[in-house]
Amino acid sequence: MQSFSPILLLLTLLLCLLNIAVTHQGFCSAPSIIDANSNNNKPLYSKVINPTLAPHHLQDLPGFTRSVYKSDHALITPESHVFSLLPDWTNTLGAYLVSPAMGAHFVMYLAKMQESSRSGNPSKDVERFVFVLQGLVKLTNASGVGQTLTVDSFAYIPPNSEHLFESYESATLVIFERRYAYLENHIPESIVGSTDQQPLLDTPGEVFELRKLLPTSLSYDFNIHIMDFQPGEFLNVKEVHYNQHGLLLLEGQGIYRLGDSWYPVEAGDAIWMAPFVPQWYAALGKIRTRYLLYKDVNRNPL
Ligand SMILES: *[C@@H]1O[C@H](CO)[C@@H](O)[C@H](O)[C@H]1NC(C)=O
Repeated sequence: MQSFSPILLLLTLLLCLLNIAVTHQGFCSAPSIIDANSNNNKPLYSKVINPTLAPHHLQDLPGFTRSVYKSDHALITPESHVFSLLPDWTNTLGAYLVSPAMGAHFVMYLAKMQESSRSGNPSKDVERFVFVLQGLVKLTNASGVGQTLTVDSFAYIPPNSEHLFESYESATLVIFERRYAYLENHIPESIVGSTDQQPLLDTPGEVFELRKLLPTSLSYDFNIHIMDFQPGEFLNVKEVHYNQHGLLLLEGQGIYRLGDSWYPVEAGDAIWMAPFVPQWYAALGKIRTRYLLYKDVNRNPL
């Protein structure tokens, strides 16, 4: 053995390892290259020679998730939805996607209303924005006036304002809530509307289509934007600003840049953006991207 050169030793070792891999016997004595006893017709290393490129396979690796949580942003993909009963609601499951534990001053959550379900009230001084993703809900306000909200409809409920959402079959909502920042002589009012009834707004220097679901007046301390991008369109401005965002991708797919990370995203993904995190989006794929975006406005951050 002493006469073996290191190269020869290495070669022997390699041949030995190859043999173990081929024969599965784990003992380096039989120098046969083909395992005659193998019933498996699949070539060894078939995944290397013939890789599976289906996206769902690429995402189905042990320990892999697209969800990310960092100090200044988070990407919450559908596999990270954790539903449990919403307190004060009946027959309704909720999954929080953005919460103050991340550093946000608001919550964003999905509410799955089931048969004969009813909403509970937000805490004192908390305002609520509801957008219907699936099904229909009936909203009854403090005067007892009822309105039916279908997909793409929304409602804003000012703080401490009595109201009730009811679903007879099933409905899925995305809801934003925050403690209202009062401003002297400005009182927010209830609003019910539908996305397609909101006018397209000018977006100087940009190509995306913008609708705002709430009035831009001082009575409101946040707004909800609906932003549409055709495939290939992207934000010209690389935004870095004091406002926070909660985003839900409603349609399409693309790349979201958050800080120094670029994330492939698709409909169903939710994003939290802290103040001043660099942010940018490009729509890809074959259909338009539409996302819904919370943005705090009209208040002094001090
Ligand atoms: C309830 O809705 C009706 C119809 O939109 C409206 O006229 C009324 O002022 C609302 N009441 C309250 C308390 O918001």
